[in-house]
Amino acid sequence: MSTVIIVQLVHTVIAAATAVKTWATLGSAFVIYKSLNLYFFGPLRHIPGPWWSRFTYIPYEITGFRGLIDTYGAKLHAKYGPVVRIGPTQVSIARNDDIRNILASYKHPKSKVYEINIVGVPDIFSTTDKELNKKRRKQVGPAFSQTGLDSVEDLVLQVGILSLKKKLDNEIRKAKGHYLFNYYSLFQSSALDIIGELTLGKSFNAVEGGGHPIIEWIKSSIKLSVFKMISPGLLSVPFFFKKFKKDKKKLIQYTADAINSRKELISNNQYNVDRIDILQMYITAVNSNGSKLTEEEVMAEIIIMILAGADTTSITMSWLLHFYTLYPQVHKKVVEEINQHFPNKEQPIRYKEAQEKLVYFMATVYECMRLKPAVSGALPRESSSDGVKLLQDQIPADIQLTLFIEGGNQDPSVWESPRQYIPERFLTENGETLSKKLITFSSGVRICPGKK
Ligand code: HEM
Repeated sequence: MSTVIIVQLVHTVIAAATAVKTWATLGSAFVIYKSLNLYFFGPLRHIPGPWWSRFTYIPYEITGFRGLIDTYGAKLHAKYGPVVRIGPTQVSIARNDDIRNILASYKHPKSKVYEINIVGVPDIFSTTDKELNKKRRKQVGPAFSQTGLDSVEDLVLQVGILSLKKKLDNEIRKAKGHYLFNYYSLFQSSALDIIGELTLGKSFNAVEGGGHPIIEWIKSSIKLSVFKMISPGLLSVPFFFKKFKKDKKKLIQYTADAINSRKELISNNQYNVDRIDILQMYITAVNSNGSKLTEEEVMAEIIIMILAGADTTSITMSWLLHFYTLYPQVHKKVVEEINQHFPNKEQPIRYKEAQEKLVYFMATVYECMRLKPAVSGALPRESSSDGVKLLQDQIPADIQLTLFIEGGNQDPSVWESPRQYIPERFLTENGETLSKKLITFSSGVRICPGKK
C-alpha cells in the first residue's frame, strides 16, 4: 500500500471520527436541550407527578402492559393527588367530578389507540367518530331498552342461570357433595352463553362443554390488528402469526355462519319478531341514506359486543363471590334476604323482583362494582383544542387524559372510607346520589350500553 493511500485512509478515518463526534455532540446537546425545555417549559410542568414523567411516559406504559395500572394508578394518586402527570403530555385523573365532566359530551373523544378494527371496519366501541358512534348506539338501542331486555329475559334465565344451576347440581351430586371448581372460568362460560344468545342468537354451550374458544379467537384477532398497525409488511410473511391468522379465520367463519342463519330465519318468516336482540337490531338497521349495514359492519358490531360483554360480566361476578367469602357477615345477610322474599328455591328470581325486593343484595353488587370495576384501568381521552378546565387545574390542548376509573370510584371527596367494602352506604339517604357517581360503566355519551 502506498504512503499516499495510507495518508488518505487516515484522513478518511479522522474525518469519519470527527463527523461521528460532531453528531454525537449535537445529538446529546439536542437531548439535553429537549429535556431542559420539557423540565422548565413542558405543558404539564405545573401538575404534580414522578420526576420521569417530565420526560417520558414509558414507566407508566410498561406498568399498563404488565396489567398493573389499578394498583400503580392508586399508588400515584395517593402520593400526588387527584391529578397526576404520567408523561410529558399525559395526565391521570382520579377526581370523580372531573372524570364525569370529561365523559359527559363528545368534546373529548376517545384516543386513537381505540382504533383497532378486527374486521377492518370501525364499530360502536372502537370508533373515535362522534357521528358513527351516535348512529350505532341508536341502531342497537332497542336491544338494551327495558322492552328489549324483557323480551329476552326468559332466554337469559334458561341459557345463563338455569344451565349454570344444572351444571353445579350435577357436579355436586356426582362428587357426593364436594365439588371443587374455578368460579371465574365457570362464570366466564355462563356470561359467554348469555352473550352468545343475545348477539348471535345461539348459546356457545360453554357451561355444558367446559368453555368455548371464541374469546381466544377474538384476542388473537386483536393482536393481529395491533401488529398490522405497527408493521403491515410483517403480516404478509406466510409463516408469521400463523396461530393468530388461523384464529381470526375461525372467528370470521363462526360469526358469518351465525349471521347467515339468522338472515335465513328472517327471510323464511321463521324468526320470532317479539324477540329484540342485538343481532336483529343490526341486521335490520337502516342508515340515513337508506342502506343497510354491510356484512363486515354487522360482524364487527357482534364481535365487539361479545368481547365487551363476556369478560366484564364474569369478572364482576367473580369479585362479588370473592367479597362474599371475605365478608361472611355480608353473605349471611344476602342469603337471609333471599330466603325471606323468595322461599321457593325452584322458582327463578326475575330481574324486576330482585330490584324491588333484594335491596341489600343490590347494594352488595353496587359496592363490589365500586371497589373492583371490571374495566379497572384507565380510559384514554383527548383534551380539546381549548384544553380542559378541571375543578382545580387547567389542562392545555393536545394532552392525553387518562381517566382512572377505580380512582374515581374511590375518590375520598365522594366516598367515606373509600377503600372499605360497605354495601350499607348505598342504603342511606345519600345512597341514590352515590349510585349515580359510580363510573364502573363509564359515564356520559359513551357510557356502556350493557349497563342494565
Ligand atoms: C359488568 C359488566 C360491564 C362493565 C363493568 C362494563 C364497562 C364498560 C366501560 C367502562 C365502558 C367504557 C369503555 C371506554 O370508554 O373505553 C364500556 C363500553 C361498552 N360496553 Fe360495557 N361493560 C359491561 C358489560 C357490557 C355488556 C353486557 C355489553 C353488551 C352486551 C357491553 C357493551 C359495551 C359497548 C358496546 C361499549 C362501547 C360503548 C361506546 O363506546 O359507545 N358492556 N363498558
